[in-house]
Amino acid sequence: MPIFKPKQAPGVQVDFTRLPRHVAIIMDGNGRWAKRRGLPRTAGHAAGAETFRTIATYCKEIGLEYLTVYAFSTENWKRPEEEVSAIMGLLRKYLQEAIGKMEKDRVKMKFLGDLSPLSEELQALCRRTEEISTHYDGCQVNICLNYGGRDEIVRAARAFAADCAAGRQDPQALDEAQFASYLYTGGIPDPDLVIRPSGELRLSNFLPWQSAYAEFYFTDVLWPDFSKEELHRALHAYQTRSRRFGGV
Ligand code: IPE
Ligand code: IPE
Ligand code: MG
Repeated sequence: MPIFKPKQAPGVQVDFTRLPRHVAIIMDGNGRWAKRRGLPRTAGHAAGAETFRTIATYCKEIGLEYLTVYAFSTENWKRPEEEVSAIMGLLRKYLQEAIGKMEKDRVKMKFLGDLSPLSEELQALCRRTEEISTHYDGCQVNICLNYGGRDEIVRAARAFAADCAAGRQDPQALDEAQFASYLYTGGIPDPDLVIRPSGELRLSNFLPWQSAYAEFYFTDVLWPDFSKEELHRALHAYQTRSRRFGGV
């Protein structure tokens, strides 16, 4: 694959030959973006969905291997019904469009989370996008949907316990790698860089196991305003870090 050479702002040079393998983004700030403009929160989610399209396409262009985004958490059901259904509606629209141009994009899509409370139609769309793209080898985009990190760990523990009870696993033989294979992210490398826009300095239940050694990039920019330039800033910051993983 040719090395990507985009226009870059002075002082924010990204070395595209040394990209992180896996970038994860908490797509936050849609509601505040809308409020600042006197618009309903749902308009913020629509704008956020556009930003997702732009950033996901760009990540593919630059040759990123894995992009994981937090789209809807296990806690987001607490929001007004009208807001939740607007988010689900945007997701449906996105998936319908994505299915139409998958052959051209060749982006591998995967959903991380418990999809069972979603509408039958949405579940079918998620399954279809995963199936069509199984063999694509471009960028892999993981969408965390009804995802919660603690919920994920509890489910993994439950599945492992069931395998032990059925005699398929031995509790004494369990190690970190094997436990990780029970998570939604089984087979996906841990995120190297976690980006959170919107000024909040917390994980909000996003990939707690997988982010144990991730680098973090926080910015006050709200997700609908997040741009390629902001992504460059995050990648540049990442490339200045010294990752030691407990070593020297
Ligand atoms: C993130 O934006 C989108 C979802 C959580 C679904 P928010 O809706 O949380 O936006 P703020 O944080 O209220 O601004
Ligand atoms: C995290 O944002 C969830 C998503 C972006 C999907 P929230 O807006 O739900 O997080 P809190 O409530 O600020 O912690
Ligand atoms: Mg928020």
